[in-house]
Amino acid sequence: MNLNIGVIKGDGIGPEIVAEAMKVLDAAAKTYGHTCDYTQLLLGGASIDVHGVPLTDETIAEAKKCGAVLMGSIGGDAKTSPWYQLEPSKRPEAGLLAIRKALNLFANLRPAILYDELKGACPLKEEITEGGFDLMIMRELTGGLYFGERKTVKEDGVLTAYDSLTYNENEIRRIAKRAFDIAMKRGKKVTSVDKANVLDSSRLWRKVVEEVAEDYPEIALEHMLVDNCAMQLVKNPKQFDVVLTENMFGDILSDEASMVTGSIGMLASASLNETKFGLYEPSGGSAPDIAGKGIANPIATILSAAMMLRFSFDLDKEADAIESAVAKVLKEGYRTIDIMSEGKTQVGTAEMGDLIASYIA
Ligand code: IPM
Ligand code: MG
Repeated sequence: MNLNIGVIKGDGIGPEIVAEAMKVLDAAAKTYGHTCDYTQLLLGGASIDVHGVPLTDETIAEAKKCGAVLMGSIGGDAKTSPWYQLEPSKRPEAGLLAIRKALNLFANLRPAILYDELKGACPLKEEITEGGFDLMIMRELTGGLYFGERKTVKEDGVLTAYDSLTYNENEIRRIAKRAFDIAMKRGKKVTSVDKANVLDSSRLWRKVVEEVAEDYPEIALEHMLVDNCAMQLVKNPKQFDVVLTENMFGDILSDEASMVTGSIGMLASASLNETKFGLYEPSGGSAPDIAGKGIANPIATILSAAMMLRFSFDLDKEADAIESAVAKVLKEGYRTIDIMSEGKTQVGTAEMGDLIASYIA
């Protein structure tokens, strides 16, 4: 099969980690008799540097022609990068939000898995992590506070800022269905996270999620307030299977979930629309402080590439091979600096990619 893949290297560590994911994809393709066709696309700071804007119509059009898009990370150092002299709607992050919206990528899957081998990098006590955990954050990605009306105005001489949180029932229903479908293939439990004791949008969220649940009698549904969920994630992460939540809560909880797995450098993600198309990116940022040093952890991007094979190209065996290769590298004791612990072998970004690629063949 020929895989038509759009590639957004992005900013900061993006180009380094994407190069390793491509290396691993090529190794998997070679082993299983596929070919990869890559189309380079510009987004974020890299696009601003060339076109003056973080996202062009051309990038959207080209992305739509691909079966899936693999992305590094976008954004720079807000204190020093000239991109942040631009108004907010022209900065790198605005490009990321705009492409999510333009491609209708409403379902963001962020799996957080504690690898046995990485228990040492996990900040939680051993009795909590005993037996590991494996949860999936399902974050709604094209609604809520991120896309609501916002403005800053002077009211009675006082500067006042507005951000609005809006969800309609259709937006909630489609992400809820996706979450239940995924839970059916996992532990058959959905924890829907909201703030229904305060927010109207959360009360609607709860109502619609309960309606959707009626079609999934096998799934155990529970509702959890977001503040409690933040606490439960560190108190007892094992209780979770699929965590379904709106955009902003999902942004925050997924960073927290990544940290309990040891490092944000391990957390992959997939952003999907109603079709097979998806955008695959590590959940972490562009880490400008370590860019160009060859020390960034490429594993989240490599695992995102595995998700791409699984979800967009239906290549389960190939995805399994990448995931097993990652597990093997960790088992053999290789670590990038962010997950390094005593007695292990520290390697750089490219070496980590080479090792994973070599374990696929
Ligand atoms: C993420 C990031 C983005 C988000 C930023 C860069 C806009 O934090 O993908 O989690 O908030 O969605
Ligand atoms: Mg985030």
